[in-house]
Amino acid sequence: MRLNQCQNFHDFRRMAQQRLPGPIFNYIDGAADDETTYRRNTDAFESCDLVPDVLRGVENVDMSVTVMGQKLALPVYCSPTALQRLFHHDGERAVAAAAGKFGTMFGVSSLGTVSLEEARQISGGPQVYQFYFHKDRGLNREMMARAKTAGVQVMMLTVDSITGGNRERDKRTGFAIPFRLNLAGIAQFAAKPAWAINYLTHERFRLPQLDTHVDMGGGAMSISRYFTDMLDPAMTWDDVAAMVQEWGGQFCLKGIMSVDDAKRAVDIGCTGIVLSNHGGRQLDGSRSAFDQLAEIVDAVGDRIDVMMDGGVQRGTHVLKALALGAKAVGLGRYYLFPLAAAGRPGVERALEQMRVEIERAMKLMGCRTVGELGRRQLRFR
Ligand code: LAC
Repeated sequence: MRLNQCQNFHDFRRMAQQRLPGPIFNYIDGAADDETTYRRNTDAFESCDLVPDVLRGVENVDMSVTVMGQKLALPVYCSPTALQRLFHHDGERAVAAAAGKFGTMFGVSSLGTVSLEEARQISGGPQVYQFYFHKDRGLNREMMARAKTAGVQVMMLTVDSITGGNRERDKRTGFAIPFRLNLAGIAQFAAKPAWAINYLTHERFRLPQLDTHVDMGGGAMSISRYFTDMLDPAMTWDDVAAMVQEWGGQFCLKGIMSVDDAKRAVDIGCTGIVLSNHGGRQLDGSRSAFDQLAEIVDAVGDRIDVMMDGGVQRGTHVLKALALGAKAVGLGRYYLFPLAAAGRPGVERALEQMRVEIERAMKLMGCRTVGELGRRQLRFR
């Protein structure tokens, strides 16, 4: 399969599957338990229909939004995701460059494989730093200070990963970081030689956000063990309130789902929340962010920027979320499969397809600006 044959999410996913060793593909593609929440995330968008207006003079459409003080040319951004150089040797560099080209925001993960400082140099777009709260408070302090010095615009604390999700595909494949050259690993390398040559001939796999404090050199660690052993399950709202104060800038919580929590986020001075179930990778059976969106927007939408992610594969999915009141929508697997399939050109092709789909859908809906989208254009089944 070639890049120019990829017309949508499913094509990119198939191309990524052809290119990646099985354990890595399944790490991206998989989710928790029975993966019901993962499936629901995309299905949820079909629970309502769009009701278009016509004859609105839509020759020029402005897709820009402002979220957490950042102006984005598109209402979608690249959510922070871990381990990107495992998927393609350019990893975060490719995503940062592509996001910059499209004038949108991107995230670098605590588990990123390129330093947040380097990513900051690559992209002209606003940068989010995805933060995991570690037991090691010294590491937490150092991570915040580094992000501030690097000029990161938005701090994004993930709050849905207080312990590891039950990802059975990873258990079956033995997926761990760094990807190890054990017997099964060697078989995978042989099965996917193009990926293997790139992996072996480019710079060594590293976690530059963490490697001053976390020794990954000795053995391989599963993602579930990282969550459970390294992150602090005792984290409370008081800890987060202190972080918000210390950061003193745009601060967002990713993984908020309940109205009570959304209100608490407002109370402690957060400027944004992302409704998310971590792509279905943590609590299976959790409601989809799209299903939960109206309730949260109604409760806090006038006091904090509400975003959502999960299952977004189409421009019309984005329009539905915006119509319900989301300020912007995060993409995860939507750009990860293109990254794995073809690096930066892959991510750029996927973002271009998303840009075209949003523009087309806005025209067909009779909307010239994102602000013209509202609930009157949605009907639930
Ligand atoms: C995951 C984490 C690392 O979902 O974000 O695998």
